[in-house]
Amino acid sequence: MTPRILDGKALAARLRRDLATRVAALDYLPRLVVILVGDDPASAVYVRNKARAAAACGIAGETVRLAAGTSEAELLDRIGALNRDPAVDAILVQLPLPRAIRPERVTEAIDPAKDVDGFHPLNAGLLALGRPALVPCTPAGVMRLLAEAGVALGGARAVVLGRSMIVGRPLAALLTAADATVTLAHSRSRDLPALCREAEVLVAAVGRAEMVRGGWVREGAVVIDVGINRLADGRLAGDVAFAECLPRARAITPVPGGVGPMTIALLLENTLAAARARRPAPEGCHHPRGTTTTGERA
Ligand code: GUN
Repeated sequence: MTPRILDGKALAARLRRDLATRVAALDYLPRLVVILVGDDPASAVYVRNKARAAAACGIAGETVRLAAGTSEAELLDRIGALNRDPAVDAILVQLPLPRAIRPERVTEAIDPAKDVDGFHPLNAGLLALGRPALVPCTPAGVMRLLAEAGVALGGARAVVLGRSMIVGRPLAALLTAADATVTLAHSRSRDLPALCREAEVLVAAVGRAEMVRGGWVREGAVVIDVGINRLADGRLAGDVAFAECLPRARAITPVPGGVGPMTIALLLENTLAAARARRPAPEGCHHPRGTTTTGERA
């Protein structure tokens, strides 16, 4: 068996080209505002990449940079103003935030219709109920990669490592909606290697470099690595020990070039979906209002 390396970079580029065509057909410019608080270097890189990718697709991407000492009240005020601004379609506050700011207060403050991260309790609740609206970008990107690779999820055993709000929980909901049998494993789960060996689809989203070893992977499994960890020598590593897992996997994502680029592509898709849901369709043009990246109604 020759394992297939799932090229998220190429797929994301294709999605962005397709998106640019759809954006060019609009009679308005979708507008995304990304807020970055503080000076975390990794977050600064992610935010810059998001703004660049938006611009390349014809989406107006604006970055609001706030000092590390910004108070929670100040940030909530800024979000309130963006919620009220009719020209703004999409709002994203980059995480993690400085300690003085409670992330749950921030995610609750964003208008759910502009919440392109899908972190607002309304959007998270709809997803948990199997009625996805705006879906978190990384899990949506993983689902696209799996679909593109032709992975049959119906009845498949899937194990998701990591129960974060950003990846693990929403991905478990999406896999469940796709009829997989899902185990959401985490730091307190017993015997992770044995759990993982049961997985036909194994997703690692724990933020620990190369935690998943070759012996954890069932022969013929599909392995998705969501981790991006910076090693002491400066290299990037995923949550999966790639070289060890590659020979056992049917398909596997690399780091970098796997899930990472898909996150940004799906953010732009969510931005277009949010813009279309908020703005009236021109006369004679009936796009399905509220249709989102998952094809469900917003
Ligand atoms: N930090 C890491 N991933 C994400 C994400 O998907 N959205 C936001 N807002 N912050 C992040």
